[in-house]
Amino acid sequence: MSHLNPITLKFSILLIVILAFESKDTNAISYGKVRVTIINGAAPDPTPINMTLHCKSKDDDLGFHTLMHEQSYMFSFKPRFPWGTLFFCSFTWKESPLLHYLDIYSFKRDNCRICNWRINKAGGCKYLKETGSFSSCIPWNSVELMDANSTSKM
Ligand SMILES: *[C@@H]1O[C@H](CO)[C@@H](O)[C@H](O)[C@H]1NC(C)=O
Ligand SMILES: *[C@@H]1O[C@H](CO)[C@@H](O)[C@H](O)[C@H]1NC(C)=O
Repeated sequence: MSHLNPITLKFSILLIVILAFESKDTNAISYGKVRVTIINGAAPDPTPINMTLHCKSKDDDLGFHTLMHEQSYMFSFKPRFPWGTLFFCSFTWKESPLLHYLDIYSFKRDNCRICNWRINKAGGCKYLKETGSFSSCIPWNSVELMDANSTSKM
């Protein structure tokens, strides 16, 4: 009869238990994908403007993207388990020396899987299924003066 070292046996059982929990974590308890679409909805008043946006989370930097009037930008991600994910974006346009910040996806605030926003000069309006329109408007979270160097990126 082959006798298994009891320490090796305990260790193997522990390893199996850990592996079982790990796979449970990544398969059974995870969040579905979220898709965020951002439209440059600034009124063409007096003329259409191009908006440059820059979205980030703690883990991802999605870079700079410039949207012409009514153009959209889309990204998708999987909220991290268990606390979710926060994505925030800055918006700039030539006519303003300010960086305009908005939380574009907050796990705590948003329960959308498909999250659509129209951005205007005062903030963002989120699409609501209940009203069938971009009726959930919020002002910028914060506004900061750009330094000379980031202005030159535009
Ligand atoms: C917006 O960007 C487009 C493409 O780069 C450019 O042709 C257009 O002149 C820009 N419009 C304004 C108002 O800056
Ligand atoms: C801006 O850029 C210049 C030259 O590249 C550099 O010397 C300066 O430190 C920068 N300023 C800031 C605030 O990053």
